[in-house]
Amino acid sequence: MKTQFVGAFLAVWANLALTQAFYSPKDDVLNLTPQNFGPAILDTDQLVAVEFYAPWCGHCQKLAPEWKKAATNLKGLVSLAAVDCDVEANKGICAMYEIKGFPTIKLFSPELRKNKKTGELTKVPTDYQGPRDAKSIVDSLLSSQPSNVQFVKWNEKDVKSKKSISLENFLENETLPKALLFTNKPSTTPLYKALSVDFKNRMAVGEVKQSEKNIVAEYGVESFPTLIVISPTEGTVKFEGKLNRDSLKKFMEKYALPPTDKNAKTGKSSPPPPAPKKEVKKKVVQAIEDDTMMASHCLNAPGNTVCVIAITGDEDKQDTLDTLSILKDTEKKSEGIDLQYGWIHADQASDITNTLQLSQDYPSIFIIHPSKQLYKNYVGSWSEKNLQQWLAQVSSGRINAWGYQGDLKINEKPAPVEAEEEIEEEVAHKNEPVRDEL
Ligand SMILES: *[C@@H]1O[C@H](CO)[C@@H](O)[C@H](O)[C@H]1NC(C)=O
Repeated sequence: MKTQFVGAFLAVWANLALTQAFYSPKDDVLNLTPQNFGPAILDTDQLVAVEFYAPWCGHCQKLAPEWKKAATNLKGLVSLAAVDCDVEANKGICAMYEIKGFPTIKLFSPELRKNKKTGELTKVPTDYQGPRDAKSIVDSLLSSQPSNVQFVKWNEKDVKSKKSISLENFLENETLPKALLFTNKPSTTPLYKALSVDFKNRMAVGEVKQSEKNIVAEYGVESFPTLIVISPTEGTVKFEGKLNRDSLKKFMEKYALPPTDKNAKTGKSSPPPPAPKKEVKKKVVQAIEDDTMMASHCLNAPGNTVCVIAITGDEDKQDTLDTLSILKDTEKKSEGIDLQYGWIHADQASDITNTLQLSQDYPSIFIIHPSKQLYKNYVGSWSEKNLQQWLAQVSSGRINAWGYQGDLKINEKPAPVEAEEEIEEEVAHKNEPVRDEL
């Protein structure tokens, strides 16, 4: 009698367990509800990846441990969240984002876009289509990680991308505290990108490469990495502590402007944002993905054509394409020259940047006059006005361009990473380095 009772009890308990949410508070995955959805998604400037799932779905059960692993690995860099679409209260959110299958992963970038109908500011997510193992998820999210890091240059003439700035301009606003990282790494680390976003509008965050000898000398920097802050009240202060996220954040917090009330934007208990209507955007700017496209879109164009080409990584892609569309729309037509617009992914541009000796900082813009074998990169601050002026000069033939030799080849797309157990393990054990490397 007694054993039977225990058996029945266990069976019921197991059934309940099957419908339980996948993620508990001790995981690094945030469980989303109608109450916290607005603040978690809208009131952050970091990238947020949201998994929409149903506990009974087999693919979701397979994804859960990978999602947790990726969340732990990316803690403090990118937020990973989940919505259980089986929970009655969450059904509104899942309907709003037109979730049709489980799991669906959507990425919310920081850019706010105006809903055309309501005029409200909202975030329009994109779908994550990549493999669903922890390593692929981590790699893909890091490649889309937002950054406000500015590359600080001594010479005005080295300011060649949207992200670069002369030291003079970087220091110009005397009331704004600044952080400067002196580094010998070729690219910005995820940790520094995350810090630049954490302190958005409260501190200018810059990076100085070791090769910027004049700036290195100016600040007496002798080893890399070195982080300093330049405070309006305390002067220049060098960071001496342990190079990890927590102590760096504490240090920067001490000198940054006080935080503004973020909740004013949406309100803590605001309902989820209005449904993002799928906008059918005209594809005005051509992606150049291989040599054939490069030939048909630019190199084989008629003699009076000048190609205007942007190079961008994932992180700035939408922004860059928006800028190009605006340039295209506002272009002043000239008699002589026809402008063709295109863009190349930074992963596929290394041959071209080598041949033309372009900057490795992205996004950047250059022009090619294929029939005359001339090119010129854009140098200057990345405002629509300045870019428009430059293009006006280009189309009236009033700029000096340089000759180039050789082919302008598009590199092959990097192969998608195979999901292998071994590599995943490595990622799982690499938590600290990814997060704490400056
Ligand atoms: C300097 O930065 C502060 C803080 O971001 C800002 O409020 C102020 O308008 C800036 N001043 C100038 C001259 O840009």
